[in-house]
Amino acid sequence: MQDIHLIKKKIQLSRFKYFSLVLKKLSSTRPNNFFKVNKFISLQNLEYFETAEEICKIVFSLEKKWKLKKFYSLDSYNSLCQETMLEQLYLKKNGTYRAIRNKIDNIDLYKSSKKMKTYLLGLILTQVFWQSHYKILKFYKKNIKTKKEVKFLEIGSGHGLLSKYLMDNNLKSSGVICDISKQSLSLVKNILKNSKNVNKIKFINQDFFKLNEKSKFDFIIMGEVIEHVKNPKTFLKKAINLLQKNGKIFLSTCANCAQVDHIFHFKNIYEIQKLIKSSKLKIKSELITPSENIPKKKWKKEKIAINYCSILVKK
Ligand SMILES: C[S@@+](CC[C@H](N)C(=O)[O-])C[C@H]1O[C@@H](n2cnc3c(N)ncnc32)[C@H](O)[C@@H]1O
Repeated sequence: MQDIHLIKKKIQLSRFKYFSLVLKKLSSTRPNNFFKVNKFISLQNLEYFETAEEICKIVFSLEKKWKLKKFYSLDSYNSLCQETMLEQLYLKKNGTYRAIRNKIDNIDLYKSSKKMKTYLLGLILTQVFWQSHYKILKFYKKNIKTKKEVKFLEIGSGHGLLSKYLMDNNLKSSGVICDISKQSLSLVKNILKNSKNVNKIKFINQDFFKLNEKSKFDFIIMGEVIEHVKNPKTFLKKAINLLQKNGKIFLSTCANCAQVDHIFHFKNIYEIQKLIKSSKLKIKSELITPSENIPKKKWKKEKIAINYCSILVKK
């Protein structure tokens, strides 16, 4: 399975035991998904393979802990890809997300331990298999490098990888992790269990709109969450009120990205930037990345999902 590009870069895939297993299974069960992924990974460097290996190792250990069948996460990932394709087709046909048209509020999903487990295990693999998600993760990792003590808040942690990378990078960090789903927090606790500073973290299972937190934070992480709420402006405003002056926010979201649980539709990147600028935040750096390799002039017409992330500073 070793790719010619990797051989040239002297990257020995077999060194990455867990990632190789996942790839092998993907190639035998979903050749189409594998083809797309393989093209992307053959262009990556060592850093990518190390990240992919770490994530696949986490996924295997969770499957074991929760007594799930082997490759449960990969099956979830494949279902997520299929679901995403159907939702994207719905968007192209109807101009809006199905969840919005059907007035879905996601409460059933957040309350269901089984559905959330499946969803989050699939989502975690998108971090290494979807090029836009990987680029965002890379952008995030680059922007959290600091030796200073960081008091952080993560809102809508999902799997918790973003908090994990921050804490591993900075042992002095402490913070609060808030998610509306109990299952999500259970996953985060598992992912963070080996982090040295986990005892400095408070986990709060609550709708962020209702969070009653008095202290202020240096850094707020909001990865892929504002498109899951009906009013992202109020959500962002509440986050800003919890931010120290000159504090920073990592925000990621997307435009024209239909998913079963996306209940706010940003129609283009400009709408996201407009929301940020109207919220007393300054964009320090940003990344805009399409979900498919399609020329920019076709993004709008073909309603291609575009991922967005930025580091924002409170003015
Ligand atoms: C797509 S996941 C985000 C995963 C991760 N942060 C990332 O960047 O990939 C969205 C998460 O937001 C949580 N969430 C949605 N609405 C929320 C709310 N109102 N308050 C807190 N968490 C919320 C969901 O339970 C879910 O775990």
